[in-house]
Amino acid sequence: TGHVTLDAGFVNTASCASTITYIDGDAGVLRYRGYPIDQLAEKSSFLEVAYLLIYGELPGASELADFTERIQWHTLLREEMRRFFDGFPRDAHPMAVLSSAVSALSTFYQDSLDPFDREQVEISTVRLLAKLPTIASYAYKGSIGQPFLYPDNSLGYVENFLRMTFGVPTMPYELDPVHASVLDMLFVLHADHEQNCSTSTVRLVGSAQANMFASVSAGVNALFGPLHGGANEAVLDMLQQIHAAGDDAQSFVKKVKDKQAGTRLMGFGHRVYRNYDPRAAIVKKAAQEVLSGMAKPDPLLDIALRLEEIALSDDYFIERKLYPNVDFYTGLIYKAMGFPTRMFTVLFAIGRLPGWIAQWREMMADPMTKIGRPRQIYTGATERAYVPMEQRG
Ligand code: CMC
Repeated sequence: TGHVTLDAGFVNTASCASTITYIDGDAGVLRYRGYPIDQLAEKSSFLEVAYLLIYGELPGASELADFTERIQWHTLLREEMRRFFDGFPRDAHPMAVLSSAVSALSTFYQDSLDPFDREQVEISTVRLLAKLPTIASYAYKGSIGQPFLYPDNSLGYVENFLRMTFGVPTMPYELDPVHASVLDMLFVLHADHEQNCSTSTVRLVGSAQANMFASVSAGVNALFGPLHGGANEAVLDMLQQIHAAGDDAQSFVKKVKDKQAGTRLMGFGHRVYRNYDPRAAIVKKAAQEVLSGMAKPDPLLDIALRLEEIALSDDYFIERKLYPNVDFYTGLIYKAMGFPTRMFTVLFAIGRLPGWIAQWREMMADPMTKIGRPRQIYTGATERAYVPMEQRG
């Protein structure tokens, strides 16, 4: 079996070869299929980027129209599935509801679960992209006891999601076009990030030839964790705590440096980016734009700006190369749009979905793929003889 090397957390071990996303953590570079993230964020739309990640090339106008139409066709959930959302407790975390519902898709579409059948993979791709926003909005509606709205397929992807989330049947929904375009851009920024924890999970589960819904549902569960996608929620909780305790960013940073009860500056640090996270700079600008348009300024923005300022000039953070990551400012934008804190990671999941699908498909199509099966260094007891119950101390 050869030599086994311990690499806790896979700091130096590549699990696959991939053509999808390139990161240079020292230079702060992120590209999808070769295109720099800042250009995509500025110029492209989320479905265009989803197409790029999944099929490898930017779509032509008719390809994008066709892709969009196929997705729109599948936005409805089956009525039986819609009723699931009544069964979860009101206070369930929407990420737990999301992963359960994605997992349940493989009960409804048993005829298209073969990971090696091109057409089945294609229809599952479209179904997942189409249904995730519907599922996400129902997770929210269920938590506040409002009626579920059916999708409106005359609307764009993000517009439809916003209407299903914030609309009510008793009055017309007034879409804020700035919110829609900023949310679309945030989804672009989240769409892939090579072998992060949730994507590696999707690949590992898929490597056992589990179907796409099962694999993606596992990815949603990984994203739920506060060190990963859950960080955007944790950042807001942290800002709120600092605000409630009298806006003292300085003493919070001290607590972090003293590692009091493992306190971390949430939204800071990244395994790969050791210079800056190129997504964070784009998000910070968007946060300032969206928040400056609000009737009442959010005091949490000032706390975030102050925390960043203190941390970036402090040796603790400089020595450890800790910079704001994508999650540091996103929560403030989501809050300004009206999302409750618990929905933040769900938004990350909607954004990350094209990446999960693209990586799963790339792996399934690769003849070099083997089942993921890490080794270990055993550190337990050496061989010892069984002790009968009456002789145990
Ligand atoms: N606040 C305070 N100290 C930190 C932080 C932080 N946010 N992040 C890392 N450190 C310290 C850590 O304590 C360690 O110090 P020491 O050498 O004294 O023990 C050193 O920096 C190295 O940290 P690490 O935990 O070995 O680094 P990692 O690459 O394993 O962890 C991370 C990366 C993102 C999990 C971590 O930086 C972290 O916990 N950040 C806060 C959570 C967060 O914002 N996560 C979102 C990541 S970006 C998007 C996503 O993946 O969802």
